[in-house]
Amino acid sequence: MKRAKTSIIGTGNVGATTAHWCAAAELGDIVLLDIPETGTMPQGKSLDLAEASPIMMYDATITGTTNYDDTADSDVVVITAGVPRKPGMSRDDLLSINTKIVTAVSEQIKRTSPNAVVIVVCNPLDAMAQRTMQVTGFPRERVIGQAGVLDTARFRTFLAMELGVSVEDTNAMLLGGHGDTMVPLLSCASAGGIPVTKLIGKERLMELVARTREGGGEIVKLLKTGSAYYAPAAAAAQMVEAIVRDKRRLIPCAVFCDKEYNVGGYFIGVPVILGHGGVQKIIEMDLNSEERDAFEKSVNAVKELVQMMEKIV
Ligand code: NAI
Ligand code: 2OP
Repeated sequence: MKRAKTSIIGTGNVGATTAHWCAAAELGDIVLLDIPETGTMPQGKSLDLAEASPIMMYDATITGTTNYDDTADSDVVVITAGVPRKPGMSRDDLLSINTKIVTAVSEQIKRTSPNAVVIVVCNPLDAMAQRTMQVTGFPRERVIGQAGVLDTARFRTFLAMELGVSVEDTNAMLLGGHGDTMVPLLSCASAGGIPVTKLIGKERLMELVARTREGGGEIVKLLKTGSAYYAPAAAAAQMVEAIVRDKRRLIPCAVFCDKEYNVGGYFIGVPVILGHGGVQKIIEMDLNSEERDAFEKSVNAVKELVQMMEKIV
């Protein structure tokens, strides 16, 4: 059977770590691409990762390049090219520079891998996914933003820490943009199948929700030189796995919603079924009035960002 081919555009912290998780999970062949200004860095990282394979026992052809032709006919392309946050910066501060990068990258993906499913990771996430779909012209099933898998993983981690239980037993769902307005859904959070609202007081739960919303900033403050990459890369790799193994995972992703949730044509985080070919279904769920208000606020924040993005050529 032919192995899946995943190309990762941007071989920095998130890109290289995504390659690491994908290789370790034997998700197929991997191409790491970066800009010519990085010299042979992508070749160096890919060879290093290939040389780890006899120890960690994975089979994959891992190559590095600065030439898009080497990414041709990828099944999945992950866009991790872009500038990360520094302390004091919001994800939205990256809008101008990353819009230009994502536009250039998307033109190349359209040319070299016209049938790929594209996973967008660079920030500001929801706007960058929108630009990717505009430039590639790919159907909405094949352009997906990574945010919710990371944000729910953070929430699950904090719930597990609070309860002193395995992360394996915590579950969560989250809606909205990848920013301070994201909406972790208390009605969907559980531990061992028990709603967390029955295990943790409301006030403490709201503190954990706030920590989740500010989870990216917490890491930026600690690292001081950039933003998180182990968990974001693990999240991207989980999405690659869902697609190349047709796992049909029900997970939160940023996808183009029109009539769904009355969004009106923007990328926003919602529950989807992710598998072969990308988004197989958007799951619409009943929201209570508090959740609906918070979701609308988040959609409005994304709309504002997209309107600013539209002015960038
Ligand atoms: P990084 O600076 O370590 O790596 C970025 C890489 O992109 C660099 O190697 C750079 O040379 C490359 N690059 C720049 N322009 C390019 C172009 N035109 N074509 C190809 N490659 C190009 O940054 P890091 O930490 O890997 O973050 C990457 C992006 O991902 C940032 O925008 C960051 O905000 C975002 N991010 C998003 C997350 C999410 O949950 N959606 C989580 C973590 C980071
Ligand atoms: C994060 O949430 C920076 O978006 C990135 O860590």
